[in-house]
Amino acid sequence: MKLAVIADMHHFSRTLGDSGRAFELRSGSDQKCLAETGDIIDATFDMLGSSDVDAVLIAGDLTNDGETASHEEMVEKIALLSKSKPVYVITSTHDWCNDANPRAYRGDSIIHDVPTVDRTALYGMYKPFTGKEPLSEITTSLGFTSALYELGDGVRLLAVCDDKNGEGKAGYPPELLEWIQSCAADAKRDGERIIMMQHHLLMPGISPLINGGQCIGDREQMRDALARAGIEYIFVGHSHMQRVTNYTADDGSSITQINVGSLTGHPGAINIFTIDRYSAELEVHSVPDFTFNGKTRSALYLKEHSLALLEKVFWAGVRDKKEFFDRLSALGIRAPEQLEKAYPVIRRACSLIMTSNVGRLRFLQPFVQDKEAYAQAVYQLAGEPLFYYVGAIFLNLFDGTRTVFEPGSPPHTVVTQLAKIPGRLGVGAELAGEIEKIAEKLI
Ligand SMILES: [Fe+2]
Ligand SMILES: [Fe+2]
Repeated sequence: MKLAVIADMHHFSRTLGDSGRAFELRSGSDQKCLAETGDIIDATFDMLGSSDVDAVLIAGDLTNDGETASHEEMVEKIALLSKSKPVYVITSTHDWCNDANPRAYRGDSIIHDVPTVDRTALYGMYKPFTGKEPLSEITTSLGFTSALYELGDGVRLLAVCDDKNGEGKAGYPPELLEWIQSCAADAKRDGERIIMMQHHLLMPGISPLINGGQCIGDREQMRDALARAGIEYIFVGHSHMQRVTNYTADDGSSITQINVGSLTGHPGAINIFTIDRYSAELEVHSVPDFTFNGKTRSALYLKEHSLALLEKVFWAGVRDKKEFFDRLSALGIRAPEQLEKAYPVIRRACSLIMTSNVGRLRFLQPFVQDKEAYAQAVYQLAGEPLFYYVGAIFLNLFDGTRTVFEPGSPPHTVVTQLAKIPGRLGVGAELAGEIEKIAEKLI
């Protein structure tokens, strides 16, 4: 079984507006592309349709915000792809406008009177594209449907809609967990492997500080339950961050989470997963070239879009407190109050990042642990723009750390030493430990 797994396409119908000031503000504050989604998806589906994959799996957030217009176009695109490959889809909160704030853009104005699809209609809308009936199906008391499929070659797929656990979070209400466990037990009995796909994270891939809020409720308990049930691999989306996380429970059972990055934001992730009865292998590719407004673009376009966004955030930090926090919140980062109070420091940091070379970081030497190694590393990088490294770390967040700086290299030394500063300034052992772990994962 060779599977292509993609997630978070967030398709935005251009009929909802793709120019004007209101649109520019919205698209300029999103890590993903917005007007480009249709063209990126078309090129990707074209490529997958004629590739040697056996099936395509889509892990939720198909549309920008559940707009009917976006769904109608998405259904058309998937229908076309399903002529050559079975397509297994789960939907998630962005497919039914969870925030009750659908938007269209006309000139300077945002229009909220936009038709959206009701969440109960979604399962039926996308089910026909698998080309087969599920082995089992469950609709929870909250009205969300999940299904179990025989993919072939001794592999089954649990396509789980985890939008609500009934306790205010994403996850599994009790009847859904029971159903998952019994599907896994059946697969074991029949000598088949079972993989799972859901939208929200089972485990925080990078750190609870970054991904904690993106996980399902009772995440540790659920992680153990799934590992013990015999789910070996789980595909998730939502964070827009490509990352693989392994976990082994006390009883030796283990589970691997493959967090698939967004298709329409850097790195334009396409996960190719090959699995048979005995082995499994993952390769991560980027979107193929696509044509947008008559011009051919590559995955580099998505990377540049992300970097441009980061630049805008830092320049806003230099210019204006309100704009800076507005841009952060547009990115989904809700800044705690302490951060707002620390704006003068943030402003200096933003200015430093945008206008200085690494050499300027010499002033932090008194605060680091290994002063000599730090000074030497800063000296070696003295003439290089600071933004280059900040940008590399930002991109690594989304692409699963494609740019690796070897331990002992000057950038690695500088970043890991800087990450120790909060701990040395006494922010608390747990927080300091997490900051160091994040730095290790992103450099
Ligand atoms: Fe998403
Ligand atoms: Fe999501």
